[in-house]
Amino acid sequence: MIDDKIIEDLQKQIDELKAASQQQVEEIRVKMLGKKGEITRLFEEFRTVQADQKRLYGQKLNTLKNNMLSKLEALKASVENQEGPKGPAEDLTLPGDRMPLGARHPISIVREEILSIFKKFGYSVAEGPEIEDDWHVFSALNFPPEHPARDMQDTFFINNQTANNILLRTHTSSVQVRTMESQSLPIRVVCPGRVFRNEAISARAHCIFHQVEGLYIDKNVSFADLKQSILLFAQEMFGADTKIRMRPSYFPFTEPSAEVDVSCNICKGKGCSICKGTGWLEILGCGMVDPNVLIANGIDPEVYSGFAFGMGIERIAMLKWQVNDLRHYFENDVRFLREFETVI
Ligand code: DAH
Repeated sequence: MIDDKIIEDLQKQIDELKAASQQQVEEIRVKMLGKKGEITRLFEEFRTVQADQKRLYGQKLNTLKNNMLSKLEALKASVENQEGPKGPAEDLTLPGDRMPLGARHPISIVREEILSIFKKFGYSVAEGPEIEDDWHVFSALNFPPEHPARDMQDTFFINNQTANNILLRTHTSSVQVRTMESQSLPIRVVCPGRVFRNEAISARAHCIFHQVEGLYIDKNVSFADLKQSILLFAQEMFGADTKIRMRPSYFPFTEPSAEVDVSCNICKGKGCSICKGTGWLEILGCGMVDPNVLIANGIDPEVYSGFAFGMGIERIAMLKWQVNDLRHYFENDVRFLREFETVI
């Protein structure tokens, strides 16, 4: 049986329909338009409608069905909005975020380069403590008691109730002494490390920097061996056509002593702003180990001789990359550090 009341009731039901999920929308569709749905049943009963009423009720049923279909669309859309977009929350085909790769610090790069050159020459690597005593930094290295390097201006002393000779090492030459104490002869070591000096920080000086010390002790070691070793090192480090020159100098722990310059690899010796027009760049200090140092460390200078050298890692890095301000090495500004990414 079909009458207006049934159609009106169904329309009212349709108007009031609500759904909270896709599943509920589907349940509503089945209840109304499924095989045994209420609207479907009305269409089946349409056969029983009297002929003169068919046109009227045909229209009413069609309107009812269309209203139901639109309502289903509306319910579906509202449920989709509530549930969020279909499928995974993220687009898995998007390219991933790259973790920025860090770079090695220029000081580490140069340190490794220096060490690997000397390792090739048969040297081993030795390290020692940064907090040292007067013996290892000064006394065993033939510093007279009144030597200016012991002055408070240069050295950070550590206040200690029980000992007044504890300090931050001012050079890695202290590791020479520790090596002579602990290793048997012959000795061939390079000693990298951090050193500390009581200096005002500027473009050309810092209170912390890095050195590599070298020590070679054996029978019949001569100044010629020293010169050749330094020349080979300089050529490995700065290029095969690098020349060196030695200037007489003074260090308490070496006699004779020299400072070594390399030919400027930027202007090839012609003179530029980096070498200040001289064509030469100072890179290290060196000399024959003073017999007093050998004696202080229990080595007979009549049987053994040796040479030593020491260089600043920052200085070598500055020459390599023309960095004009030491402070860059300690500020860890990533814009500076990234300059060396391709150098690894
Ligand atoms: N220790 C010196 C310094 O810090 C560098 C040095 C010079 C080391 C000459 C040596 C050497 O072994 O022979 O300035």
